[in-house]
Amino acid sequence: MSFDDAIEALSKDALKFVKNNSVLGLGSGRAATAFVKELGVQIKKKKLNIHAVPTSLQIKLVAEQAGIRLISADQIEKINVVFDGADQIDSQKNLIKGGGGALLRENILISSAEKVVIMADESKFVKYFNRTVPVEVHPFARNTVRKFLQKLGGKPQIRTIERGYPFITENGNIIYDCDFGTIRSPKLLSGRIKQISGVVEAGIFTRKADIIYKAKENGKFEILR
Ligand code: A5P
Repeated sequence: MSFDDAIEALSKDALKFVKNNSVLGLGSGRAATAFVKELGVQIKKKKLNIHAVPTSLQIKLVAEQAGIRLISADQIEKINVVFDGADQIDSQKNLIKGGGGALLRENILISSAEKVVIMADESKFVKYFNRTVPVEVHPFARNTVRKFLQKLGGKPQIRTIERGYPFITENGNIIYDCDFGTIRSPKLLSGRIKQISGVVEAGIFTRKADIIYKAKENGKFEILR
């Protein structure tokens, strides 16, 4: 038994939050991928009328493969439920997101959804955030934003891929992975980061998740509400 078994099991369980005739938001990453595969099976089996908004090309490809009907966020009035993973979850149920670079679209869906379901393995649960915060930045503001992030006490590093090429988001922006040490006031810090001109999105999400699944190494899972 492993985390992957737990993620698969909780993905099946999370299907109970999918109601017929609803619009779902699909997050990005490993946990979201496991869920989307199960969702595709469920839609076919129960002949459900579901539309889904993907937050990245990564999850769009998975959803297409699973036969899920996709729709753009600007064609719908509301999102009923978002299913997503997280990079870290603090004791107040704030989230750090953006490890895969999809933070802008993820936050647009999460902050407006009626219900948010987060699925993550137990290694991601902490009392206070202590990993880097992804910050999406317009390339024009690369230097100015770096200086402001440093003034806030952060150590920003431009995210790169192989051979040092900068990682470019689907919105054409760069990402700073910014080390703030231990973060005791996430809402305050997130607000300050977002006030910097040129910042497109900050990876600290303070919209609390309604349901949080914790995957365990023994293949089991817990639900936190
Ligand atoms: C994408 O930008 C991220 O916010 C992901 O949702 C996050 O990195 C969790 O991904 P995993 O489920 O792959 O750990």
